[in-house]
Amino acid sequence: MSSYPEEKEIQVLPQLGRAIRQQFPIFSKLGEDLAYLDTAASAQKCQVVLERLNEFLSFEYANVHRGAYGLSAAATEAYEAVRPKVARFINAADPHEIVFTHGTTESINLAAHAIEPLLAPGGALLVTLLEHHSNIVPWQLLAQRKQQKIDFVDVTDCGELNLSDLEQKLERHHPKLLAITAMSNALGTIVPLDQVVRMAHAHGTLVLVDAAQGVPHLGLDVTALDLDFAAFSGHKLYGPTGVGVFFGKAALLEKLDPFMSGGSMIRKVTTKGTTFADPPHRFEAGTPPIAEVVGLGAAIDFITGLGVERVHAHEAQVFRQIWTALEAEEGVTLHGPATAGRPQTGIISFNLRGVHPHDLSTILDRFKVQVRAGHHCAMPLLNRLGFESSARISLGCYSDLGDLDPLLSGIREARRIFR
Ligand code: ALA
Repeated sequence: MSSYPEEKEIQVLPQLGRAIRQQFPIFSKLGEDLAYLDTAASAQKCQVVLERLNEFLSFEYANVHRGAYGLSAAATEAYEAVRPKVARFINAADPHEIVFTHGTTESINLAAHAIEPLLAPGGALLVTLLEHHSNIVPWQLLAQRKQQKIDFVDVTDCGELNLSDLEQKLERHHPKLLAITAMSNALGTIVPLDQVVRMAHAHGTLVLVDAAQGVPHLGLDVTALDLDFAAFSGHKLYGPTGVGVFFGKAALLEKLDPFMSGGSMIRKVTTKGTTFADPPHRFEAGTPPIAEVVGLGAAIDFITGLGVERVHAHEAQVFRQIWTALEAEEGVTLHGPATAGRPQTGIISFNLRGVHPHDLSTILDRFKVQVRAGHHCAMPLLNRLGFESSARISLGCYSDLGDLDPLLSGIREARRIFR
């Protein structure tokens, strides 16, 4: 996992950027000059995913795990085939370590409820200031429910994880769990997870990684990193909305309580009580997002076909080009570790002097440039760094240098209007 490559390492990857827009119908409808720079919020959908969804819903659909008839058995097979695919994609040891949810937020909420039996009274939880609200609020609520102390690991002034603060807080609290992002959604900070996990495990602390941005931008190897839990979504991976993954080490999943309850997650229900199914089905109550899981499988095939490493290298190249251009632009303040030459990729958060990010975003839209503006669901991080909101560019496999011209034109127009 690198930040951005030096100029000399940059290779031309012609299959990505503009060339791959042919595989995304939105660009044929709205034009190849659409500068969709909000992939961190949600990625555009590729043809193969749309086709697989259409085919499955049109010709192969039935509920799963319930029917003794052929159509249901085949749908179950299609759904269950995605489990080992996801396991291979993130290098999990066993497909049973993969739980399907409706998204990263649900995966983290699942963890924050299911982990209750592992908590001792008066214990502690550790999160970091880099987190998206979805990796803060569930832990705050858990801390209230179970009387746990909760503390936040600081960041440096450029928005990197402060490793010495992490060490001190691990030493001080011996927390049961550290919840940490792989990559900041607001700044593009790359977290040195290998180091972080070693430090946490040395204090007996379990690690949950919010990999919503990490999986699409950097890839994830849960075995190499020795992660205990991880969460990510399908929709940031060029797949459908409404589907996510919760990974847990098999030995840990065994010890967790159910989260949602209802059909499918049981072994036996009587009027006296209920026993539960083994993981992963213990955590998949009710009718799951069947077609969305099948679509996630197609999205994983798509990104595996491109090569996550190649997508990362491509995004790093485009990141560097846009970053350099914005650095030279009057009135632009850039945020994030790259301001100090530290690891950052895929995401550029910035402010334009005298222009509110919401106004900037509206003006950029006139130039067919889409960016997110606001606090990016990361209020504690922005507060720590001393700003309330920013405009955020985020890249995907279809981003390229062609997105820069309309971006600069929009910024210059905003500067002109607000002069
Ligand atoms: N978490 C998404 C983002 O960063 C929605 O925009």
